[in-house]
Amino acid sequence: MTKQRGKLILIEGLDRTGKSTQCSLLAERLGERAHLIKFPDRTTGIGALINTYLTDEAFALPDESIHLLFSANRWEQHAAIEGMLLAGQHVVLDRYVYSGVAYSAAKHVPGMDREWCYASDRGLVRPDVTLFLVNQESNDTRSGFGEERYEKAAFQERVRSEFHALFETLGPRCDEVVTVDVTGRSIQQVQQQVWDLVQPVLDEPIDSTLSTLKHFT
Ligand code: TMP
Repeated sequence: MTKQRGKLILIEGLDRTGKSTQCSLLAERLGERAHLIKFPDRTTGIGALINTYLTDEAFALPDESIHLLFSANRWEQHAAIEGMLLAGQHVVLDRYVYSGVAYSAAKHVPGMDREWCYASDRGLVRPDVTLFLVNQESNDTRSGFGEERYEKAAFQERVRSEFHALFETLGPRCDEVVTVDVTGRSIQQVQQQVWDLVQPVLDEPIDSTLSTLKHFT
């Protein structure tokens, strides 16, 4: 029997939408065949710089530089992700290219438009399925934003618009993004919906050859 490759599953969303919880639950449910990778990956040298930027407002970096560091942080894992998929392992991603573009473009820095922000991620392997978690409650009424640099209600609203604009403009260059509305729903309810959306993708047989991996173009 031909060996099957694993599937790349991405969960995206704004801060405080329950992404990380859902990613962990999904990876747990997938069992030994799954790896969970979170971006930013704060465990690397580049990730440590990103962590300092996010947690220390006094740490100054040009917006272009921090954007490219987030992208470089994804490229650090690229070969490993492709290797896992070809070895038949599923990979669950907690944030990826879309967060990279949406958060940076939401800063509205002259010259850093959506295309500029996207350019450094061209060539990264594309997910087989992308779920975008949305909470319809206004960011003003939701509690729980933390202390990190981007966790401010007004900025999150801009990121929300950027995500939507991005899904429309990237159009055919990205796979269909499925929106999951988490408003007022329990962790278990969302988990079940995530599972129902992911399972058909897992069941689809794809041979484990390099040519079956798609990339952002
Ligand atoms: P986290 O809360 O999921 O660890 O993400 C940290 C912050 O970094 C979050 O506010 C989103 C932001 N971010 C970017 O600005 N660009 C990126 O490429 C990624 C992956 C995250």
